[in-house]
Amino acid sequence: MALWGGRFSGDASAMFKQVNDSLPFDYVMASEDILGSIAWSKGLLRADVLTEQEQATLEQALKNLLAQVQAGEIDFLQSTEEDIHSFVESHLTDALGDLGRKLHTGRSRNDQVATDFRLWCKEHLIGLKQDLLRMLESLLKCASRHDKAILPGYTHLQRAQPVLFGHWCLAYVEMLKRDISRIDDCIKRLNQCPLGCGALAGTTFPVGRDELAADLGFDGPCLNSLDAVSDRDFVLELLFTASTGMMHLSRMAEDLIFYNSGEAGFLHLSDAVTSGSSLMPQKKNPDALELMRGKCGRVFGHLQALLVTMKGLPLAYNKDMQEDKEGAIDAVNQYHICLCIGVEVLDGLSLNLEACRKAAQQGYANATELADYLVSKGVPFRTAHDISGQAVVTAIEQGLPLEGLPISTLQSLHQSIDKDVFDWLPLEVVVNKRNQLGGTGHEMVTRALYLEHENLDKLKAALSHNMDDER
Ligand code: ARG
Repeated sequence: MALWGGRFSGDASAMFKQVNDSLPFDYVMASEDILGSIAWSKGLLRADVLTEQEQATLEQALKNLLAQVQAGEIDFLQSTEEDIHSFVESHLTDALGDLGRKLHTGRSRNDQVATDFRLWCKEHLIGLKQDLLRMLESLLKCASRHDKAILPGYTHLQRAQPVLFGHWCLAYVEMLKRDISRIDDCIKRLNQCPLGCGALAGTTFPVGRDELAADLGFDGPCLNSLDAVSDRDFVLELLFTASTGMMHLSRMAEDLIFYNSGEAGFLHLSDAVTSGSSLMPQKKNPDALELMRGKCGRVFGHLQALLVTMKGLPLAYNKDMQEDKEGAIDAVNQYHICLCIGVEVLDGLSLNLEACRKAAQQGYANATELADYLVSKGVPFRTAHDISGQAVVTAIEQGLPLEGLPISTLQSLHQSIDKDVFDWLPLEVVVNKRNQLGGTGHEMVTRALYLEHENLDKLKAALSHNMDDER
């Protein structure tokens, strides 16, 4: 039954009901709505609207409903209630009669939905953080499994300088760490409680807003009722966080798709995350990675859609804002799925060391080393760069790698080149010389991996702390 029948004599049209009802998607906030209602009943007790007995009865009925929800016993999609708030209230009224009808005193669905959705977002952001930590762990494991592997590093998709595979993994570790910290920021800002702000102007009942906030695990109450019921920044921040995280996953997917291609052949993907072609029996396609890349589109779309929805909305609540949920629910779901499949991809990935090495050696990736060698002999870098460039041209003409050029040819390019130049040019030397902080040298990467393992342990401990607080 609608919560607002008194003012109306006609029924809503079927089409209006279809466009207006949100239960088909906002039922996902059932637990949050019930917990919010329990907290509200305590507020009404503080305000002397409910007696202790009444509050206890309401709380028990709400807890019974929560148990049913958690056991998956309720088929929300069969209900004709307008939204999750009406659903919970009408359930209480069915169970408790007039006492159920007291719960909404001083409350509006506007402060209610803002509270429920903040709680939902917080819980799901914490879940995503857990997913991100799992992926981070997989990246570190993957790096350790292939700790000697050298890949060509690219700029402009041209072979540029060789890098350790572990260094590539650590690049994504950095991105994931930023994604995790974005989630922390997002939670910090959303952690204020709208309950007790009423429809827009605040409530007349002394419900104790600090206590309400504390009961629901918020840091404190929202400070302005107009803002509290109409702010959806927290959903936008969640969507931006998911979009940025998905963008990182997409870039990783793209790297791996390329490394897996017939042309590169640097790695094998496990059967678990690839599919075949219905026509071409030889094919093994990187579908999981392509979907990680492809699902970005819809997540970015949800962010854009909500920004457009919110733009120009007058204060305070408007029904447009009901459009905040489906996109956010889908974004969280897709991001979660992509993080999980990313873990499976990384755990099942193996490198073709020979192909990696061969590719890293090709393409004159040690030309910078020749220039650096000349710098070590006192030649200004610009001149050295020029000479190294000439050496590359000569080597290409002769079909040789730089280190394959006879010393006489090199000396004809610059008299300060000596035999010791060949100590500078091998692949491992090229890689390991980059041993300043942040570089791909073996020493640096080993150290970074060690530190990241330590960091992961800290992040995991902090998260389980976080989750205990939530319970
Ligand atoms: N289903 C609504 C939403 O998601 C709940 C708030 C309804 N408030 C109202 N005054 N109609 O935004």
